[in-house]
Amino acid sequence: MPLRLIANWKLNGSLEFNDQWAENFFKNFSNSNLKSIGIAPASLYIDHIRKVIGDSGIEIGVQNICDVESGARTGEISATMIKDLGCKFSLIGHSERRIFFNESNQTISKKLILANNNSVMPILCIGESAEENERNDTHDVLKFQIDEALKDLFEASSLIIAYEPVWAIGSGKIPNPEEINSVHKMIKDVVQSRFPKIDLKSVLYGGSVSSENASSLFAQEHIDGALIGGASLDGKEFAQIANVFNELK
Ligand code: 13P
Repeated sequence: MPLRLIANWKLNGSLEFNDQWAENFFKNFSNSNLKSIGIAPASLYIDHIRKVIGDSGIEIGVQNICDVESGARTGEISATMIKDLGCKFSLIGHSERRIFFNESNQTISKKLILANNNSVMPILCIGESAEENERNDTHDVLKFQIDEALKDLFEASSLIIAYEPVWAIGSGKIPNPEEINSVHKMIKDVVQSRFPKIDLKSVLYGGSVSSENASSLFAQEHIDGALIGGASLDGKEFAQIANVFNELK
């Protein structure tokens, strides 16, 4: 199974954290199927994470790549470098990048192209703000984000989309699972109808996913998996979510 359950550690972690996480994860994970699991640590720790997870099959990716391949971009990391290190995926356009680093849909589009050129699976993050949600603009906002991000992509590109309502991230609030399911269905329909040659591998949900709400989410047909922030920082909690996933998917 392709990537379906991704830990986004954001700006968290240390050498000690990585060791502890792996110990807790493997102690509590009750399945042998690790192929659908990915971790996006802070890039500095990729090498160490690889050592602590060994050849378990868990994929390692990054939280962001630069929108140019090389040159004068102090502090950035390119898709080529990610490929060089054997990383399999990159989050692209996470709302925290859009909000704190002013990432535009145009920049995101360039990143998607570079990821695809380097065989790094892009995980395009989209989602509406609280105000947009209250105005019932969710579908229009998501369609716009998809159109702008994908319009310059080559026809044969592969993609995972993560639907992350901004107001659900780190807040403990989530839309009801049926609503998420219908948003995911809409996302699949929009990509299929407007970009029929793009290979949309899956649509993940992100925003306050935990071991408590995992079964109600994974029971939904179009919720193919999850992108998990806070709850993924605890190896035991993440293993429990993965166990629920393996039961239901
Ligand atoms: P939380 O799981 O902490 O809400 O974060 C979600 C997220 O932003 C994953 O990318």
